Amino acid sequence: MGWNNWNTFACDVSEKLLLETSKLLGDYGLKDLGYQYVVLDDCWSVGRGDDGYLIPDTAKFPRGMGAVADELHKEGFLFGMYSSAGEMTCARYAGSLDYEVQDAESFASWGVDYLKYDNCYHMGRMGTPLISFNRYNEMAKALKKTGRAILYSLCSWGEDYVHTWGGSIANSWRVSGDIYDSFARPDDLCACNNAADPACVAPGTHCSVLAIINKVAPYIDRGLPGAWNDLDMLEVGLGGMTEEEYKAHFSMWAALKSPLLLGNDLRAMDATTLSIVNNPAIIALSQDPRGRAAMRIARNLTVPKDEHGVGEAQVWSGPLANGDQVVIFLNAADEDLDMSASLAELFVLQGPGGSAAEAKRDWAVRDLWGSISSSGSGGGGGGGGGARMGRADAQAVLDATSEAERGAVLRRANWYNATEKPYAEGLAEGDARLLGERVGTVKAGGRLEARVGRHAAKVFRLQSAAGGGGKADAGSTGGDDDGSIGKDEL
Ligand SMILES: *[C@@H]1O[C@H](CO)[C@@H](O)[C@H](O)[C@H]1NC(C)=O
Repeated sequence: MGWNNWNTFACDVSEKLLLETSKLLGDYGLKDLGYQYVVLDDCWSVGRGDDGYLIPDTAKFPRGMGAVADELHKEGFLFGMYSSAGEMTCARYAGSLDYEVQDAESFASWGVDYLKYDNCYHMGRMGTPLISFNRYNEMAKALKKTGRAILYSLCSWGEDYVHTWGGSIANSWRVSGDIYDSFARPDDLCACNNAADPACVAPGTHCSVLAIINKVAPYIDRGLPGAWNDLDMLEVGLGGMTEEEYKAHFSMWAALKSPLLLGNDLRAMDATTLSIVNNPAIIALSQDPRGRAAMRIARNLTVPKDEHGVGEAQVWSGPLANGDQVVIFLNAADEDLDMSASLAELFVLQGPGGSAAEAKRDWAVRDLWGSISSSGSGGGGGGGGGARMGRADAQAVLDATSEAERGAVLRRANWYNATEKPYAEGLAEGDARLLGERVGTVKAGGRLEARVGRHAAKVFRLQSAAGGGGKADAGSTGGDDDGSIGKDEL
């Protein structure tokens, strides 16, 4: 979790931008919700010196990159940088192809904690999984050789089946061409909507939220702790989507275990945006200790379509560490829908055809966006309270003129602080701020039903009615870091 400058600022980067942004991440309580990486994207160098090492642009970074890392580390942040596995970066600055060792040394010496490694100008070294693997593996080996722990983030746009080999050498891999600030608008530049289509040779850019979700659905299970599908940086707050679309975008990225890198200008953030990205009940899906992405269990294409011919509805479901289950009803149709799914289908991962023990239990249903929490009535921590910060509180956080004033608002709202209480701990305790609002029950063998607005998502956490308080039922916890979900855990 963190922030990357690209979606708003592209090449307009500087030390000042990174440090002003990190200050706000801290002030607004976002760092303490988990947003810790501050990632500088393309356009930071002036080229390569005669010694073969990259030279930072001192007009943008007057004290060099090491000074930026030091400042960020002092405030408890982690520093990310960018390069490309090509002769040039995407904005045509010097790339790292065939200079992996030198550049990894530079990153390590500057104190970099994360490398986003792009795919532009690769000199034709792609076309089979092995060719791409070898090209990306050069940087993996070079980073490892430095001895510094650097999160390695592949940005190869899903090319050459990166989901089948990325996890062997990297911590995350992009599954698609670049995201753009649209929920569902198809665009010819985002050509590869079907990863299995052999004609798909240009992952491109201008991929909508829906296009990316559809692209990753067939291999969402490739993501595991330490090696994640990357659905690209967030567009929340940039202005091209409605509030409901941004909530759906954020929820899907969290439940599908994509990195959550904010892409908005924090200096111009509004209350609506803050109260989307600081919802601790949604972030708790992302940070769930079990580390399993939800999977798509239903897709309905026979719903009203928009003027582009786009319209569909999807149901996603997945197990969480404490024995709860996350369920998302995603409505990308052109009108409001009544959506539903049977427990037998929702627990298909635990056993198809209604054979799962889970399908034969009663479940409490909690809405992770719930009603708005109000600081006047005990805040987000209240028993049945909503998970989302109220607009007035969010505005007060943004408007506060001193740290004390802002701290007082966050305390009054009883806002979640993962520095104080890590998500794993909060979930194990059944902290109500992570569990959303209780909205109903589904009886054994029954169906979960909800009305879902056009271009919106309903996000539920099902809790075994026998358990309660977010505690696991006996025998139903246990991580599955071997990548399989089998009966043995149930
Ligand atoms: C979160 O908790 C930590 C540790 O107690 C504290 O230093 C920090 O100020 C808290 N953050 C906020 C936003 O209150």
